[in-house]
Amino acid sequence: MGIVLGIESSCDETAAALVDSQRRILAQRIASQDEEHRPFGGVVPEIAARAHADRLAPLIEATLADAGMRLDEVDAIAATAGPGLIGGVMVGLVTAKALAMASGKPLIAVNHLEGHALSPRLADPALQYPYLLLLVSGGHCQVLLVEAYGRYRRLATTIDDALGEAFDKTAKILDLGYPGGPAVERLARQGNPRAVPLPRPLVGSGEPHFSFAGLKSAVLRAKQAGQCSDADLAASFQQAAIDCVIDRTRIALASISGASALVVAGGVAANQAMRAALQALAAEHGLPFVAPPLQLCTDNAAMIAWAGVERLASDASAADPLDIAARPRWPLDPEAAPVRGAGVKA
Ligand code: KG4
Ligand code: ZN
Repeated sequence: MGIVLGIESSCDETAAALVDSQRRILAQRIASQDEEHRPFGGVVPEIAARAHADRLAPLIEATLADAGMRLDEVDAIAATAGPGLIGGVMVGLVTAKALAMASGKPLIAVNHLEGHALSPRLADPALQYPYLLLLVSGGHCQVLLVEAYGRYRRLATTIDDALGEAFDKTAKILDLGYPGGPAVERLARQGNPRAVPLPRPLVGSGEPHFSFAGLKSAVLRAKQAGQCSDADLAASFQQAAIDCVIDRTRIALASISGASALVVAGGVAANQAMRAALQALAAEHGLPFVAPPLQLCTDNAAMIAWAGVERLASDASAADPLDIAARPRWPLDPEAAPVRGAGVKA
């Protein structure tokens, strides 16, 4: 039922992709900004926005050329409209608006989190609604019940840091460079995950929420104490983080029924040790475990294009107005109650 051009620019990847309703990724290009942000040990929003502005238009042209297509052959233009770093989101959304206006094709404004939430369905045609999704990235740490296209029930979120953020901060403490997650995982392979006693925040609590700030502080104290190797500290951090994720996801699983699968998405889903632990948890519950291939786990435009395909499948005349605003915050589940700690006073 058509081909969607997807555009992603909400953080530090500039990306474009063409995806059709048969789940074929006809072309995709990603320009990473790691080199620009590395000297700062994290993403600098202003630098990110400028890099997106410089790169996006030629990247889209190259993506169309890779697929041997012209803009007037696509059926819709989907772009991340939030949540994310607002300068970057605006670059992507404004570019999509311009292309939509010039080509007369519909604009589809996609929630970046929806892109992550639906990416497993792009990768796996057998994955049926509803499924339990653990969404773990640099900016987000949530458990969602994905009930249907457009219906997402948030069961849990983090009261402080996202899981990827905890990996990135640990990498900074251990001087492993940026981006931190993959470097921590590599070093952790050489260490003993039981060597350093570290806290497991919120483990055992009845609500499935997450907290990683205390874990990160404990890593810092252990590093300063200087009595363990960096590899043991990395391995012990990773194990503590995984223990938190498994305990919290187990609580979430107990609170729902009818999920067809346990699914993980977002950048941290690239972590092999965590995948293995989640796979075991799913098996314990008799559920299939679904994890998209790594290039669909980290930020990419194929998942944004796919969210556009699903939107068109649910409403063939779907189109957002050209004055739709970019949103720095955009909860997937507007009904979800705010949790204490996330800027909410008791
Ligand atoms: O989904 P993503 O590309 O961007 C956001 O929307 O945040 O996720 C990036 C995050 C970063 O925090 C990065 O350190 C983390 O995912 N990450 C990992 C691994 N690969 C990427 N964390 C742990 N282990 C990994 N192998
Ligand atoms: Zn993301």
